[in-house]
Amino acid sequence: MTRTPVNVTVTGAAGQIGYALLFRIASGQLLGADVPVKLRLLEIPQGLKAAEGTAMELDDCAFPLLRGVDISDDPNVAFDGANVALLVGARPRTKGMERGDLLEANGGIFKPQGKAINDHAADDIKVLVVGNPANTNALIAQAAAPDVPGDRFTAMTRLDHNRALSQLAQKTGVPVGEIKKLTIWGNHSATQYPDVFHAEVAGKNAAEVVNDEQWLADTFIPTVAKRGAAIIEARGASSAASAANAAIDHVHTWVNGTDAGDWTSAGVVSDGSYGVPEGLISSFPVTAKDGQFEIVQGLDVNEFSRTRIDASVKELEEEREAVRGLGLI
Ligand code: NAD
Ligand code: LMR
Repeated sequence: MTRTPVNVTVTGAAGQIGYALLFRIASGQLLGADVPVKLRLLEIPQGLKAAEGTAMELDDCAFPLLRGVDISDDPNVAFDGANVALLVGARPRTKGMERGDLLEANGGIFKPQGKAINDHAADDIKVLVVGNPANTNALIAQAAAPDVPGDRFTAMTRLDHNRALSQLAQKTGVPVGEIKKLTIWGNHSATQYPDVFHAEVAGKNAAEVVNDEQWLADTFIPTVAKRGAAIIEARGASSAASAANAAIDHVHTWVNGTDAGDWTSAGVVSDGSYGVPEGLISSFPVTAKDGQFEIVQGLDVNEFSRTRIDASVKELEEEREAVRGLGLI
């Protein structure tokens, strides 16, 4: 039986993450090796020509699962019938721009895109926001899509999660695949909190294996939280292949589920769990089953973790207040 292709819309398709992402989606790594996909690329007018070039390259790969590539600069067209939307294109902070200016500029992108998703996407739409500030951009898009269930809007902290896995693997000398139940809490920003207190390294409690609170506080947490800036410093451009990889991981997990006995991290709408105010899109430990994320419940949060979670959540609340003040939500 021939399966109906899944429509995957990617915004910012001509950017560097887009270039690292599209070929992996078309090869089946996003949804599965038996799931045909149609790509819908959204760019601003200046990005269309480069997007056309990428579409030519996609053709030239002759991917068996790729059933077409459409390109548009109109969100109403690009999100028409979308089942999965990866919102990558965003307005970067430029010299002299205040945080409020950045939020306002991104509001001009994510509000109309949220409305277009509301009006045109498929009923089963799943949205991942990658473009920064990812959590608050997701909130803006969600607010503009009142007819779409709120939990379909998520923000990417999987890159932070993967960074934390690697740092912990290097510290403990255990392969990444043997580390489970790590958590990123809060915002995808330097205030995020990577938490190892419930994590397991080869079946043992990670905090006990590490047994070095100073390393956690002074090395592990800042290394993970400031990794994005360190990559920009080293590469002269923000992370692209690792960001695309994390976007693939996020959606693949959302659709196909988490492994038994493990969880991952994602920015999802808070139901008030762990004292995170309801409605904020904050990173939590999550499992996925039947196409839905669920926040892992009942974890003990120690004092070390509480202050750090609260600081990142406070930043998210401030961002929410700022965009509320700008009339964006
Ligand atoms: P980039 O500048 O290379 O590409 C962005 C693309 O978006 C450009 O081609 C631009 O033309 C396009 N664009 C801008 N406005 C658009 C709009 N309204 N509609 C459609 N397309 C639009 O940037 P990049 O390196 O690909 O990064 C994209 C975003 O991802 C940035 O905001 C970056 O900070 C963010 N990022 C997030 C994470 C994360 O972990 N959440 C990690 C890395 C990067
Ligand atoms: C990252 O974490 O690599 C990015 O969010 C950094 C950035 O500011 O683009």
